[in-house]
Order: sequence, then C-alpha cells, then structure tokens
Amino acid sequence: MERRAFLSSVAATGLVAALPTTGMAKSGTPAFNPRHTPMRGFDGQDVSCDSLAIEGKLPPELRGTFFRNGPGLFERGGERYLHPFDGDGLVHAYRFTDKGVSHRARFVRTEKFKAEAQAGKFLINGFGTRVKAGMPITSSDSFNTANTSVLLLKGQLLALWEGGSAYALDPNTLETIGPVAFSRELAKLPFSAHPKVEPDGTTWNFGAFGKNLVLYHFAPDGTLVRSGVVESGGVGMVHDFVVTERHIVFVLPPAEFDFKAFSSGKAITESIIWHPDRPTRVLAIDKSDFSRRREYELEAFSLFHFGNAWEDAQGVIRADFVRSDNLSLMIDWMPRMMAGESIPAPTTNAAFLTADPSTGKARLEMRTGNCEFPAVDPRIVGRRHRQLFMPGSVRNDGYSGFDYVMRLDPETGKEDRYVFEAGVSLEEHIVVPRPGSCKEGDGWLVGVGFDSRRQQSLVNVFEAGNLAAGPVAIARLPYWVPSCFHGRWV
Ligand SMILES: [Fe+2]
Repeated sequence: MERRAFLSSVAATGLVAALPTTGMAKSGTPAFNPRHTPMRGFDGQDVSCDSLAIEGKLPPELRGTFFRNGPGLFERGGERYLHPFDGDGLVHAYRFTDKGVSHRARFVRTEKFKAEAQAGKFLINGFGTRVKAGMPITSSDSFNTANTSVLLLKGQLLALWEGGSAYALDPNTLETIGPVAFSRELAKLPFSAHPKVEPDGTTWNFGAFGKNLVLYHFAPDGTLVRSGVVESGGVGMVHDFVVTERHIVFVLPPAEFDFKAFSSGKAITESIIWHPDRPTRVLAIDKSDFSRRREYELEAFSLFHFGNAWEDAQGVIRADFVRSDNLSLMIDWMPRMMAGESIPAPTTNAAFLTADPSTGKARLEMRTGNCEFPAVDPRIVGRRHRQLFMPGSVRNDGYSGFDYVMRLDPETGKEDRYVFEAGVSLEEHIVVPRPGSCKEGDGWLVGVGFDSRRQQSLVNVFEAGNLAAGPVAIARLPYWVPSCFHGRWV
C-alpha cells in the first residue's frame, strides 16, 4: 500500500522535467577561489594512485580500506548544477597496507550516469537543479546519484543515496554491480545514507517517502530480518537518525515537503516549506514493535547529522547531533558556494538532547562553535559514549571551511583539539579501533581534507586519544579530488 502511494507520488513528478521555470542549471564554470578547487568537480574520469606520499609514520596496526563517497561531477555539456547534492557519486578507496597507502576513485555507474555520459549532457533533474533536456522521472531511481555514503553488507560495498536504492559495488575494484532490492516489496524504496551498525553488526536503516518512513533491520550477517512502515507526517528533511539499545530515534524538523510545488515545476530545494512556528518533533520507536512510539516536541530547528544516542535504565534517551536554526545552510549557503561565492557558513552547534518518557518532555542543551559530521567509536554505537569527534571551524571566514578536529566529552564538555594552519580544509573524520582493543576511543581518527597551498587532497591519521599532538601521519595525494560527504573504514 505505502509503496504504491510512494510510486504514485513520484509519478506525479514526471511533470517536473518538462517545465522550464525556476532552478535551471547555469552555463559555464564559476571562477573558484583556489581554497575551493574541489567544488569544481571532475569531468567523469576515474583516478588512481598506487603510492601516496607519507609524512610522519603510519601506525603499523592500521590496515584496511577507508571508503568515501561524495558528489564528484557537477557539469556536463556546458551546464552546471546549482546544488552540491546534485552531483554524481564518486566512491574512493584509500587502502592502507604494509606498502603504504593507495587511492582509487570511480564514479558509480548509475542509470543516470550512464545515460548522461553517453549523451554528453544532463538528461534528468537533480535534487536542487532542473536541466534543459529533461526526461520523465519514472521512479526515484531515475535521478539516483548514489553520492552520499557507503556500507559494507553481505560482502558488497553499497553506495548510498537517501531517496532511492542502494547501489552495489565490487569492494575490490569499485566497479558498479547495480541497484539492490532487499526484497521484492522493498525494491526502489528509499534506503538512507546513514545506516547505524551496532557493535555486534546488527544494522538499522530507514528511508523517507511521502508521509512515511520505511524501517530496515538487518542481522549481523547482513540478512534482512524485518522491515516496516511508520508515519512521519510528511517531513521534507529526514537525513539521519540514531538508535539506542531499545529505540529508533528520529528528530523531525518542521520542514514540510510540498508535493504540489514540486509537481508544478519547483526543484526539491524549492519545494520545502519551513514552518518556524511549528515544533521539531522527536520520535522514539520501539525496536521490537514498530507500532509502539513516543513523541516529544521542541522549538523549531533543523539538523543533518547525529553523533550517537543511548538510554538509561529509566528509559531516558540522550542523543547528540549538530543543530541549525533553519534550512539556510542547505537552501542558501550551499548553492552560493556552488556558484563560486566565499561566504561564512550559517551557525551550526553541537546539541545534546534529553527525552524523558516519565515526564513526556524533551530538552536541548547547546554548545557554541561551528561544526559538522559528528562521529563516535563504532564499538559504542547505541551505547553510552564519552567521546564525540568532529571537525569544526575556528576561522569561519568563508574560505577556510572546517579547520580543526575535536574530541569532546559530551558530559563534561572537556575538549581535545588540533587546529590546522590556514589553507587546509577538513572533511568528516572517523574513528578506527585499534585491533584487539575494546576501550572506547582506543585507536585512530582518520579523515580527509584539501591543502589549497599544494592543490592536493590528503588523509590525516591521528591517535584518537591525543588530537592535540597533531596528526601522526598525513598521506598526500598527487592531485585534488572533489569533496565527499561520508565514509566508512573496512
Ligand atoms: Fe549525511
């Protein structure tokens, strides 16, 4: 029933491609400040390097592959997308071996990518852009770019988007296998880019469609255990979620998706209505019975990413995430950066949620300082954590991007940080546990960045327990690559 409702709502969007009104792709490449070279994107080429230059000393126990995914192509046939979320997925593999670090990046050969590469121009509308040669959208996979994150499931590397199917890749070669259907009924339904993998390998995910959320529960071996659909109220902005030991937790901002506007020719970014007078809702769903739910209300705010959540013996839920006042980061700032402007980002804050079922009340505490991409040790997902890692911006001058990494104790506020010299901008950094250890934070913090002075991308490796000492190793690529959103260590 819900799947039919979703497909009929998508079918209505078939009108969009034919209406040349607002949100059209622009001509030509903007003149980017050299600090923002990665915003240019690639032309569709795959790249590789067998041996990155290493500064410092790579930890001998740090062996594995750091997979990353992000939008890598923004222009075809002289047209440029307006929004970074539109770009086609480029998946990276940084392999750490006894010989050093190698890099390979390949575009995901989605149906969209293959058709547009052959045509030499954009054929289908993106998330925030409409293009001249519009084609009808027959399902959300028509404009699936597979550009947001990765997950290893049943031996396949999945390139994740959030509005459609996961795309399976060969983890060794990064060659595209094709879209994944976890069951016949779930084919083409959204599968978000933020699955949560618990310490035992149990994996949860969701997909937002229409007024609903589809929930996925996988066993540690990657087998689908259960799926279900719950009502969300038609929120147009559900990017991430968290789990505790007993609950699946969503924070739903008052961002209404206006299907009517979308069907009349607006881009998705133009079809979201922000209601500052309505609450942001916290929705806690019982993992063992999706029909059991509890809701809390807070004043309006928006968010992209969570760090982690946990609950105590009384069922009080704590969650941390990065909060924004509204959608201006996505609706205004990102398109302006895509167009070559250099402007400070709107304020984002680390925020700490407490939701108490005994009182029915939720409250939020905040910390100042722009930040994003919060991460915790994968050994502690859904459990009480004392270390939250994320990049932040000291300078926030419009040029520097994220220029420091921090390790924050969410309970005491104590911080360990390292600030990079001007000219280095950082992306997400994640925790890689030290083999054989089970202590939270015992391992390394690994993440990528761009050094604008050399016009090269890099990989940082920190001892996770001592960020202030600076990176123990930096692996430098001989070229720059487009910025990514998210990654995972395998
Ligand atoms: Fe994300």
